[in-house]
Amino acid sequence: MLMKMENILSVAYAISNADYMIAVTGAGISKESNVPTFRGEDGLWRNYDAMDLATPDAFRRNPALVWEWYTWRQRLIAECEPNPAHFTLASWEKRGLLKALITQNVDGLHIRAGSTNVYEVHGDIWALKCTSCKYKGSLSSPAIGIPTCPLCSNNLRPDVVWFGESLDRAALSKVYNELEHADVCLVIGTSALVQPAATFPLIVKQRGGQLIEINVEPTPLSSIVDFHISGKAGKILPTLDSILDQQ
Ligand SMILES: NC(=O)c1ccc[n+]([C@@H]2O[C@H](COP(=O)([O-])OP(=O)(O)OC[C@H]3O[C@@H](n4cnc5c(N)ncnc54)[C@H](O)[C@@H]3O)[C@@H](O)[C@H]2O)c1
Repeated sequence: MLMKMENILSVAYAISNADYMIAVTGAGISKESNVPTFRGEDGLWRNYDAMDLATPDAFRRNPALVWEWYTWRQRLIAECEPNPAHFTLASWEKRGLLKALITQNVDGLHIRAGSTNVYEVHGDIWALKCTSCKYKGSLSSPAIGIPTCPLCSNNLRPDVVWFGESLDRAALSKVYNELEHADVCLVIGTSALVQPAATFPLIVKQRGGQLIEINVEPTPLSSIVDFHISGKAGKILPTLDSILDQQ
């Protein structure tokens, strides 16, 4: 774990002095729960690129293939548990240190860890919506085949935001409201490549807030953040928590 002690103490100081701290998380925070990220060595599924399967075109071309991939992911996520990074953020919310959590993840692990003010801006892997009518539903176990709509019998799809799709407007406006209140933003385990989520931390920065990035690698945000802590979220967040406890 590469952590400069002075850096980590300054970050703990910034956290404990924040008026309104929020967090923006990505697939990296769930990596230690064994949920694969899209990019990097675990990003492969059979011979397909995950990013070519998470699109409306892919679903139109081959809904059975996209559902096969989602069923594989649902089975995998059903076996995963939140890790110390998820639990630390949940405990910071309970203590009033963290006001909101904006996640690009669809795995539900923040909520399972006990976080409540969570904005799942890319949706939830267990949620369903009809490709034809307004029906919405949810699965309690991994899908079998292509689920069909109980109202109109057309194909149901996962109610997640795919590449090339817009985020829900009402949800987005609540997210922007959180970003405008924040004076400290933790940016954890995101490659900061997927829009518009990649710009969320920039909004906090433009308004004079501090950015604290926790990632195993540098990202396009690293050069503008106030602190970059290099390492695994599941190690860094509990370390910060123990420093906060000693203050
Ligand atoms: N868990 C999930 O729900 C999940 C998984 C894969 C992809 N996705 C979706 O794919 C898109 C991917 O974008 P993204 O930026 O979230 O992820 P990404 O896959 O593009 O990037 C993951 C980032 O996490 C970092 N990382 C890996 N392990 C880490 C660790 N232990 N601690 C800290 N950082 C770590 C990597 O260096 C990388 O920057 C999102 O839209 C997301 O919805 C979600």
